[in-house]
Amino acid sequence: MITKPKGCHDIYGIEAKKWQYVNKLIDSLMEKYDYTFIRTPIFESSEVFHRGMGDTTDVVTKETYDFVDRGDRNMTLRPEGTAGIVRSYIENKMYGNMPNPVKLYYNGTMYRYERPQSGRDRELTQFGVELLGSDDPLSDAEVISIPVNLYKMLGLKEIKVKINSLGDTESRNNYRDVLKKYFEPHLSDLCEDCQERFMKNPLRILDCKVDKDNPILKNAPKTLDYLNEESKLRFEKVKEYLQALEVDYEVDPKLVRGLDYYNHTVFEIEAHVEGFGSNNVLGAGGRYNGLVELLDGPVTPAVGFACGIGRLMMALDLENIDLPVKNDVEVFVMAVSDTEKNYAATLVQSLRMSGFRVEMDYTNRGLKGQFKQADNLKAKYLVILNDEDLAKNELKVKNNKTKEELTLGLDYLLYYLDEVLLEDEPYDENYEKECSCDGECHHDHNCQKHHEEGEE
Ligand code: HAM
Repeated sequence: MITKPKGCHDIYGIEAKKWQYVNKLIDSLMEKYDYTFIRTPIFESSEVFHRGMGDTTDVVTKETYDFVDRGDRNMTLRPEGTAGIVRSYIENKMYGNMPNPVKLYYNGTMYRYERPQSGRDRELTQFGVELLGSDDPLSDAEVISIPVNLYKMLGLKEIKVKINSLGDTESRNNYRDVLKKYFEPHLSDLCEDCQERFMKNPLRILDCKVDKDNPILKNAPKTLDYLNEESKLRFEKVKEYLQALEVDYEVDPKLVRGLDYYNHTVFEIEAHVEGFGSNNVLGAGGRYNGLVELLDGPVTPAVGFACGIGRLMMALDLENIDLPVKNDVEVFVMAVSDTEKNYAATLVQSLRMSGFRVEMDYTNRGLKGQFKQADNLKAKYLVILNDEDLAKNELKVKNNKTKEELTLGLDYLLYYLDEVLLEDEPYDENYEKECSCDGECHHDHNCQKHHEEGEE
């Protein structure tokens, strides 16, 4: 049997419906924040990531899927979205032909050759945003608030937002010198990678997975003590705006993030529900004011984040949150003879085009088998066709829960279903229980509470 590659997943059935629910929620949330969707290639010239993410980052040195294409070009499957989007921003001159700031969001697969474990995959899906063209601390705070609000809307409770500031170039360089002086006498006690990081980018030592419990790292100088006045004030402003946006956060002076392009604000959102394990960062990001210029674009301040959808699904499971996915069909049309089946084909199509979720049999089951199949699919109404009824332009409709059955003229079916199925909303047994929105229902269809209040 051929099996899927390590660190990859097949998402199907109810799990796939949950992913689709989350994706729809993301799309509707992004519409409200006025971000537009961007789709960039899944592979790019390797240079995009080597230059963009920094040659010392673990992702670039050890984790990319690289290949040489048939034209001898070095290509890399994207390990993240930011560098490719910045490439696209520059190549398409978005700084000149889109409203400033340019607000983009993405939701797609990324590839990292990591050691697979819970929450750490080789094919991962990230939802993220990039806001290019604003240096306002409000944009940092608002970007942080997006995943926080998404998690809240989904009902997650056990999350923690950690923020820090790396400061501007002057502060970062200053801090870098301090770190070099601090680490120099301890170099032989650090792992081989950290010795290389010491030469290229000592900040990255603080993010080392091997040495993370080493006291030398724990006692290292903290970024916040080396911010210049301007960077300090900027960080204060970000915190003020976070308060205004009602985002609870913690300042974590040790947070430096694993990618090279950050300055000023960095942040991570952790899941704190029991059972999550150590890969508990649901989403992360920060400001990267130098990246557009580094990839040959105009000086452009920018900020963004990405969250792992796989980890988000894990958090929802561990917090026992049932998403209100539609896991049933509204109508099952039953037909056995050729004429019945012929009529059923037309009817099913017309019901679907009228907006109902409709199924029928495609495997020549007898009537008994079709009743069973309708139950398996949790059908709410059965439309039972038989030749005698059809000859009289009639059919039978049965409420599959109450088992009430009635005969209807063919032309009345649509009106009837419209009425009973509308009355039946919400479809989901869990729906009322889940919707604790207090007037701001995030669900696509109406919750019971809003139905009663007459809201649409
Ligand atoms: P990152 O921290 O590398 O940042 O990844 C962001 C999120 O993607 C992580 O917090 C995690 O939820 C998820 N993730 C990363 N690697 C894996 C993996 N191997 N398996 C499962 N999930 C994973 C970035 O990618 C930046 N581009 C974020 C950003 C956008 N910064 C500015 N703009």
